[in-house]
Amino acid sequence: MALPSPEQVITSQRQDWNRVAGGWEKWDRFFDEQMAFLNHRLVADARLHSGLRVLDLGSGTGYPALLAAQAVGANGSVVGIDLAEHMLTVAEKKAKQLGLHNVLFKVGDVTTLPFESASFDAVTSRFCLMFLPEIPKTALEIARILKPGRWVAVAVWSVPEKNPSISLSMAAVKQVIDLPPTDPTAPGIFRLAKPGDFADMLERAGLADITDQEFLGEWSYGSADEYYTSLMEIAAPVQNLMATLSEAQRLEVKHLIIKAASQFQRGARITFPIAVRMVAGRKPG
Ligand SMILES: C[S@@+](CC[C@H](N)C(=O)[O-])C[C@H]1O[C@@H](n2cnc3c(N)ncnc32)[C@H](O)[C@@H]1O
Repeated sequence: MALPSPEQVITSQRQDWNRVAGGWEKWDRFFDEQMAFLNHRLVADARLHSGLRVLDLGSGTGYPALLAAQAVGANGSVVGIDLAEHMLTVAEKKAKQLGLHNVLFKVGDVTTLPFESASFDAVTSRFCLMFLPEIPKTALEIARILKPGRWVAVAVWSVPEKNPSISLSMAAVKQVIDLPPTDPTAPGIFRLAKPGDFADMLERAGLADITDQEFLGEWSYGSADEYYTSLMEIAAPVQNLMATLSEAQRLEVKHLIIKAASQFQRGARITFPIAVRMVAGRKPG
């Protein structure tokens, strides 16, 4: 089957993330609390400090852009760019609640960055770049808009075996219907999961001092049912797959997902290990 064109990928990404924006708002506090450590790691890897001008790619409902805005303070500024305007509406509300006046959210595709060359002191991005149809183009754009000597820091999901909270839903669907094998070069949640996947693109874009490390953590839910509900409300790719199933197949998948998630019961909670690939690099000069 022919791969969708870059334009088709961008259009469906925009639709998908706009559709789940309400779910992201509902689960916002849960994810902000449980994933804050990744934002702090990105702020550190991007070497943020007071007064810098930062670009955050694929800000969604606001992170790490909002932490970056706190790190650079009133003398600095942050621009967060994302395809999905409904996700950014949530980010804007959060900026207001936090009293942040130095962050601006802008609708756009990060494949082509609408900014002058050497106009940013740092670039950050969490869980966006693997969804792009033309990732090397964005790597080149990052290299172009960074000032010499400055850093980019990116978080993407590591391999499925180490991220059962994401991969077990796909495994459950595969038990119920035949899915065509995934093209490893197609945009998707694990597209940049392997060591070197994004680091090599940054290197080819001319960045130096590149680091590529796996960061292990965990997150937990009150119950397997709660996990299932959140998955269905925020995970656009899983929603898309579920929409292709009959009602009976959906119920079977739900049963399999809840059964698989229950194996991660620890004490009163369902606790999943997670593995995130943290990639950083510096523009020479
Ligand atoms: C999983 S969310 C991550 C949001 C946020 N950074 C976080 O970590 O919570 C992925 C985001 O990437 C955005 N995205 C996907 N493709 C994009 C593109 N080509 N340009 C800009 N944003 C894109 C989506 O709209 C979505 O908001």
